[in-house]
Amino acid sequence: MAEASARRESVVTIDGPAGSGKSTVAKTLAVRLGFDYLDTGAMYRAVALSAGRHNLLEDPAGLAAHLETLSLEIAGGVVTLGGEDVTGLLRDPDVTRGSSIVAAVPAVRAFLVQAQRRAAVGRDIICEGRDQGTVVFPRAVCKFFLTAHPRERARRRLDDMVRQGKAPLALDDLERQIAERDERDATRKDGPMVPAPDARVVDTTSMTLEQVSDHLAGLILSSLREAGR
Ligand code: DC
Repeated sequence: MAEASARRESVVTIDGPAGSGKSTVAKTLAVRLGFDYLDTGAMYRAVALSAGRHNLLEDPAGLAAHLETLSLEIAGGVVTLGGEDVTGLLRDPDVTRGSSIVAAVPAVRAFLVQAQRRAAVGRDIICEGRDQGTVVFPRAVCKFFLTAHPRERARRRLDDMVRQGKAPLALDDLERQIAERDERDATRKDGPMVPAPDARVVDTTSMTLEQVSDHLAGLILSSLREAGR
């Protein structure tokens, strides 16, 4: 017992909807605080990619069976499926749409929740997703739920697309897609996107990413101090 608790790893969770700024902020904070970083959305995206390839997006039972054969690894921002580096395929619009479909399948959630807990063992880590503070790491040392107005989130997505040299979509279309995904993520029975009761909810609509990461860094450092870490 004493042995197990001698070194207490620290998990920080950042949940929230698409475009709330959580990925950029989580990556920035990880570098700033010397923590590892886990992008759990990338894991759902990888499952969606594999489900799409095997025609299992509309077949939850088939998908559950398929998981038994799935070898999914995530390390240093690189995601592999059966040894194939699929990182560059995960932002494809079909994969994005598929990810919130597979995320509603309980067997997928159970599979990834276990994988996420394994990934955090023995590490100081910032885990980013939808259910990290509620389901995966209910005892995290510090929890956040980031939000932003849907129009602002659509604007951020549009900026990302332009930066990445992708053909931009109309702001209204992006906002509608974001709203559809939010609706599916927030209303599913298993691991819905909701703030944990003890999460700090931060509305980032009129904050720069730098302001958000300064604000969160201060709160994390004081939580770590309070927890004696
Ligand atoms: O964060 P993201 O956009 O990369 O997430 C892709 C999808 O995966 C999103 O629709 C919600 C789902 N997801 C989830 O249900 N639980 C997580 N912990 C992370 C992502």
